[in-house]
Amino acid sequence: HSVAVVGAPFSRGQKKKGVEYGPAAIREAGLLKRLSMLGCHLKDFGDLSFTNVPKDDPYNNLVVYPRSVGIANQELAEVVSRAVSGGYSCVTMGGDHSLAIGTIIGHARHHPDLCVIWVDAHADINTPLTTVSGNIHGQPLSFLIRELQDKVPQLPGFSWIKPCLSPPNIVYIGLRDVEPAEHFILKSFDIQYFSMRDIDRLGIQKVMEQTFDRLIGKRKRPIHLSFDIDAFDPKLAPATGTPVVGGLTYREGLYITEEIHSTGLLSALDLVEVNPHLATSEEEAKATASLAVDVIASSFGQTREGGHIAYDHLP
Ligand code: ARG
Ligand code: MN
Ligand code: MN
Ligand code: MN
Repeated sequence: HSVAVVGAPFSRGQKKKGVEYGPAAIREAGLLKRLSMLGCHLKDFGDLSFTNVPKDDPYNNLVVYPRSVGIANQELAEVVSRAVSGGYSCVTMGGDHSLAIGTIIGHARHHPDLCVIWVDAHADINTPLTTVSGNIHGQPLSFLIRELQDKVPQLPGFSWIKPCLSPPNIVYIGLRDVEPAEHFILKSFDIQYFSMRDIDRLGIQKVMEQTFDRLIGKRKRPIHLSFDIDAFDPKLAPATGTPVVGGLTYREGLYITEEIHSTGLLSALDLVEVNPHLATSEEEAKATASLAVDVIASSFGQTREGGHIAYDHLP
């Protein structure tokens, strides 16, 4: 298995300092070593440095850093599409969740039939007109869904974007902080989601079964997993910008990634919103980054039952 690793130290999809140190923290927690221990053939694209946009006034006096988010995602899309075209599964470490605009568009250039599993406390589907916070990391899906485009104004820096998703090809897992306008969008476009309440009711096994029924039941297609670390309970992942109580357990989180690995269809993965600067201690920062590494390793075949490559016999 060939895996490309891309660091995207990008933070202008929101206003808090520190999420740009996510990639360094995840590397420090041993990502590359863990992936190579699984037998992955690795290509490290390093941590990207994005074009600086000096005068980047808010759109409508509200939506912050649109040009910076636009151009960074254009650059990221280029790298992801190169990695995926080269036969790699592409892991992007964020950075804030606005970078899913670039990773999904880049991935879709090579695999237009991809589907998305979005693991998150949040729906990230506000439009520039419904957002309350003004942060683009709460909006990435609105730019990607074709059927939504007559409701989405074009932000400066966003003219290159071509929406590449449709509602039946998206499933959310872990939602527990959805704004009214977002809920209206999910319902009007019949986008499937499993909230924390649904996980409580069905159990994570049925949630994954129904997720795969919907996305790959009729036809196999490449999976794009966009994993926001805030999907986990804040006790497990405290170092993140928008924590919400009542999140995934460690076991639920890893069950999700183990099942995704078992499909053999994982083609790109975003691991976003690790913000080491928001930890109240060094241990909290380390625990959050190490959880991110567990999620990525599990997505590429690490199992809790253990595993082995090829023994002929015991010594
Ligand atoms: N719904 C809120 C907003 O639109 C929070 C979004 C949080 N997004 C994230 N990627 N952590 O601002
Ligand atoms: Mn291919
Ligand atoms: Mn989130
Ligand atoms: Mn998110």
